[in-house]
Amino acid sequence: MAKVLVVGGGGREHAIVHALSKSAKVDEIYAIPGNAGIAKLAMCVNIKDNDVEGIVDFAKAEAVDLVVVGPEATLALGIIDELTKAGIKAFGPTKSAAMIEASKNFAKELMLKYDIPTARFEVFNDYKEALEYVKISPFPTVIKYDGLAQGKGVVIANNLKEADETLKDMLLDDKFGHGKVVIEEYLEGPEFSLMCFVDGVNVYPLEMAQDHKRAYDNDLGPNTGGMGAYSPLPFITEDDSKYAMEKIMIPTAKAMVNEGVPFKGVLYGGLMKTKKGIKVIEFNCRFGDPETEVVLPRLTSDIYDAFMAIVDGNKPVLSWEKCYTIGIVLASKGYPGSYQKGYVINNADNENIYHMGTKIDENGNLVTNGGRVLFAVGKGDTLEEANKNAISIVNEIECENLFHRTDIGAKAYRK
Ligand code: AMP
Ligand code: GLY
Repeated sequence: MAKVLVVGGGGREHAIVHALSKSAKVDEIYAIPGNAGIAKLAMCVNIKDNDVEGIVDFAKAEAVDLVVVGPEATLALGIIDELTKAGIKAFGPTKSAAMIEASKNFAKELMLKYDIPTARFEVFNDYKEALEYVKISPFPTVIKYDGLAQGKGVVIANNLKEADETLKDMLLDDKFGHGKVVIEEYLEGPEFSLMCFVDGVNVYPLEMAQDHKRAYDNDLGPNTGGMGAYSPLPFITEDDSKYAMEKIMIPTAKAMVNEGVPFKGVLYGGLMKTKKGIKVIEFNCRFGDPETEVVLPRLTSDIYDAFMAIVDGNKPVLSWEKCYTIGIVLASKGYPGSYQKGYVINNADNENIYHMGTKIDENGNLVTNGGRVLFAVGKGDTLEEANKNAISIVNEIECENLFHRTDIGAKAYRK
């Protein structure tokens, strides 16, 4: 029987831990740091998820059979390299391969070199040169900080004033740190997420999902880390899937091998179905959040076996329940702006709820502990049914400081 350590403490990691808990081969699960929901399925260990040395020491001391890493920041620090050096099997990319997410510039240059469809772009580290370029570019234009910025490093500038302010923030005031910017062509169309298990050149797709980034219904309000997701996607045809695999995901894996930075782990393609074909918006080097929380509940094969297959260079078995899932985020009022924590949550004891930001307080109560707090997943034979089930789970939860969207997946099922 296997001992597995999962690094991270959000809804994504709760979904990974939940899937691992269903494996007949796994009998002990640890989470660093985990959360109050994960604690029901795993032993949570109070180590920071960016404390690479602490995590490696723990994995060695407990002689875990496998480590699965959720957050990109931990991957970009090189945790997989360190675990591998210590002789511990770990699922995820090396520090060099994590560059595909950690540096927008690296990802864009790779796509240019290997002819992988993406928005046209230019890279700048000089404020004045960048400003001259946007003066002659059409609006809206997209300005991206070249580094990890917790999802906040992308600005869609509608006019020169907005572009100028963004360039000042990123290049003169170093708002996210000292770095470059990528300025790219604005693309339009529905976005979708294609996560693939990748072992060097071999690429195995998971089922697709769509995130909903805006805070409020009808895609209004500010961008967030994601307010809900659903899977699979009726607007993606078989031809679209084939194109996304053959023109984007497989060539990208091959390109990484060719560049001497083979990718192992989950390669996440953030793709857009534009009128001129499917194009890459971004790559991530990890499971998506909240996409993972609607995709993994549909997995019927053993996830531990699949992780081990990728780590050992074998073909994983991935099979899926033929159903729809819709997941709704319950977020703290005020999110993604400022919000308060510590509100008591009742009636959230349900296998279909993943915890994103919760903890048990000193009185033993489950309380809110983040911007995004809970994620309720409904399943059904149709998207309408999945939505009804998700909403009924949401309605049972008692907490006075949470809000949620009511239209996750609606574009796909409302005529
Ligand atoms: P990223 O962090 O690169 O995924 O960007 C965050 C969000 O900005 C994406 O999910 C898109 O909605 C939007 N975005 C990024 N690049 C573009 C683009 N070239 N055209 C239109 N929207 C974009
Ligand atoms: N759902 C977007 C992300 O995981 O980056």
